Amino acid sequence: MTIQQNISLLPFNTFGLEAKAAHFAEIHSVKELRHCIRTGIQPIMILGGGSNMLLTGDLRGLVLKNSITGINLLRTFKNKVWVEVGGGENWHQFVLWAVRNGLGGVENLSLIPGTAGAAPIQNIGAYGVELKDVFVRLKAVSLETGKMKTFSHHECRFGYRDSIFKQEERGKWCISSVVFSLTKHKHHLNTSYGDIQRTLENNGVNLPGIADISRAVIQIRSSKLPDPAQFGNCGSFFKNPETSQQVLQSILASHPHAPYYPLENGLVKIPAGWLIEQCGWKGKRVGNTGCYEKQALVLVNYGGATGAEVKALAHSIIQSVEQKFDIRLEPEVNIL
Ligand code: EPU
Repeated sequence: MTIQQNISLLPFNTFGLEAKAAHFAEIHSVKELRHCIRTGIQPIMILGGGSNMLLTGDLRGLVLKNSITGINLLRTFKNKVWVEVGGGENWHQFVLWAVRNGLGGVENLSLIPGTAGAAPIQNIGAYGVELKDVFVRLKAVSLETGKMKTFSHHECRFGYRDSIFKQEERGKWCISSVVFSLTKHKHHLNTSYGDIQRTLENNGVNLPGIADISRAVIQIRSSKLPDPAQFGNCGSFFKNPETSQQVLQSILASHPHAPYYPLENGLVKIPAGWLIEQCGWKGKRVGNTGCYEKQALVLVNYGGATGAEVKALAHSIIQSVEQKFDIRLEPEVNIL
């Protein structure tokens, strides 16, 4: 492993934005990671699949691409297994591995870009399932001391697209492996999310298995979300906001068909994509950037966009949603 200097991060971020790292290395093991920490080059930033970040300028310090791989069966129980996955493993490849081996639990999370090590940071989720539902524990290496620590489910403090690694432990760890609990039989299938049921029916599937669900999710995602190879993007740019009943009622007064999901804490979640669409942004292009025509929650790089351009578009969207609905959208992606 060599530490290179002045390296372009263009191939390492799915938004397809140009930015340089002062120092860069690809790590394949905890040993290599520790070697990098010992050089004393600071700050260190860990890069997974680069699918949840907006680069707005060059990065000083040391950028490390986590390529620690490996999928190992850790324990076998009567109806489940614990699988330990290297932090640098591609998430979707892991999902396909699970489906191929008849292991259930992650099929709804098919085709989510990024790595297994980055997945817990924002508690990835889709179609009624979140990473926290199958998570057991993870191992992470302190970027300060090089020491390894195991984080339990409780210690990760998972929330909606959130964990301790986005809060007070932000930027302090490299997640080297994650343990997931997957079912061997009697899978708990989650088909309640509207689009899945409809897609299964269209596919003529009456009694779905995990492979059918994975296939349906891949179909839905491919039809709604842009392929980064075609248009640079980071999936949902904003989180779906949680708001009070009062704000919801004022929205329903003028938009009686507004979609919303009641939450256990009494608040309601309103799809940010709907709010953005109502403000007229869906499909709108601004310079080299724009709001995707099939899913307003996704901002795209039509080619040659800068991080600053995308950030400016995001800012304009936040402002118009706030003006129209009195709701302040929060980015889901990390703006660097
Ligand atoms: N909607 C619109 N216009 C749009 C987009 C959405 O009106 O342009 C409304 C529709 O009413 C639709 C509802 O929003 O029924 C929900 O849309 P969708 O099912 O596409 O899901 P989402 O809430 O927009 C979330 C996640 C996605 C995840 C899907 C499916 C967040 C921020 N996003 O999007 O995650 O794939 O649900 O579970 O929670 C990601 O995080 O990168 C991501 C793609």
